[in-house]
Order: sequence, then structure tokens, then C-alpha cells
Amino acid sequence: MILGIISAMSEELELLLKDMDIKEETKRANMTFYKGTLGDKDIIAVVCGIGKVNAAVCSQILISEFNVTSIINVGVAGGIGKDIYPGDVVVGTNLVQHDMDTTAFGDPHGQIPRLDTFDFKCDKTLVKAALDACEEIKEINTFSGRIISGDQFISSVDKIKWFEEEFKAMACEMEGASIAQVCYLNNVPCVVIRSISDNANNGAHMDYEKFIPIAVRNSTIILKNMLNKI
Ligand code: ADE
Repeated sequence: MILGIISAMSEELELLLKDMDIKEETKRANMTFYKGTLGDKDIIAVVCGIGKVNAAVCSQILISEFNVTSIINVGVAGGIGKDIYPGDVVVGTNLVQHDMDTTAFGDPHGQIPRLDTFDFKCDKTLVKAALDACEEIKEINTFSGRIISGDQFISSVDKIKWFEEEFKAMACEMEGASIAQVCYLNNVPCVVIRSISDNANNGAHMDYEKFIPIAVRNSTIILKNMLNKI
């Protein structure tokens, strides 16, 4: 088993990298792939950059060049819904690209035209391991459900209301669904673990700056605990 671990930003991966025993660094597509171990797990960890294209390129490199057997995407997200707060963790069960729009042809929002699935499902075993890890860390509030991705930082009450109605999503971010799509196309299992940095409403960018450290701390705690279970 070789695990690929992707974060969009360096601050999202730094706590994990500190704990990893790094044996080799390889540059591809302007990204640094850190090959090493954490405990008894072989890991390739990488910061892919923000947005769906970076995330897709990175995922395909992990699969084609580094032969990872599964991918975990870890980082922060905007929370959707009134019961979810900064620091809470969402384990994605399925992902949708909210900015894909071919509704003019009768497709639902988010549907990638001519693809045989609407959402990209996370691997059941990985989701269970993540949820088991969450269960043990009582001080972190956890949720599981749909996470949606798009090339937009969301800071609008109207937009999150629409996300709730249209997608029944728990969190929004900018990479997970493209990683999940690449994994789907390659038949590689994946899971997305995100901690909430803001509520994607007006002023989200200020909450984001404030809560990013606690969100990164929490998503890393869950990820590290999860690694003991797979
Ligand atoms: N990642 C963290 N917060 C986000 C937001 N509000 N929109 C998109 N991605 C995010």
C-alpha cells in the first residue's frame, strides 16, 4: 500500500510533513512530492496548489508515476449549514463539482456531461477508517456527507443557501471533487477529510485567516489517527 496525501496549500500539510520521515523529494509539474513513511505507512505527500486543475494534475501524477494505491485529500473547507462551526471535521462520502453547469442541455447542476455518474464516491473502507478515527477524538465535532468543490472561494449567504438546497452539501472547497474524479477515472480509492475554517458566508475570508490553524490542527489529528486504522 502506498498512500498519496494531497493538500492544496503548504499550511494544510505542514503538521503532517513535520511528523513524516522523508526519504526523497521529487519535483513534477511545479509540485514537490515527498516520499517517506509515517509509522508503518508508505506515503507520498504533496502540496498541489489551489483549484481543480492543480488537484487533478497532481492526482494523476500520484497515480501514474508514484503508483499510489489510494489518495487522501486533507485540508480546510467552508462549512455549510448552521450547525457546523470552525474546527469541525467533515469526512466526505461523495463529491460534486458545483461549478460544472450544462443545465442548458437539461443536466442537473454539477453533472459532468456524458459521464456515467453524478457524484464521485469516496471509498467505503477509507471513510470508515476516517470515521472510526473521528469517533476516538471526542473533542473534535465530526460530520460526514457530501463535499462540493469549485474554482471559487465562497463568501456569500445566498450561494451557501443554494448549495444547501441544490446539493445538500456539508462543506465547500476547491479541490476534493476533482481529486475524486481523477480517482474515479483510474479506479483508485480516495477519501476527502476537511476541517472547517469558515462558514462560507459574508466575511468568510476573515474567519478563514483566524481559524485556519485550528482547522489544520484538527484535520491532521484525524488523518494521523486514521493512518493507524488502514
Ligand atoms: N476553503 C475554505 N473555506 C472556503 C470557502 N469559503 N470557499 C471555498 N473554499 C474554501
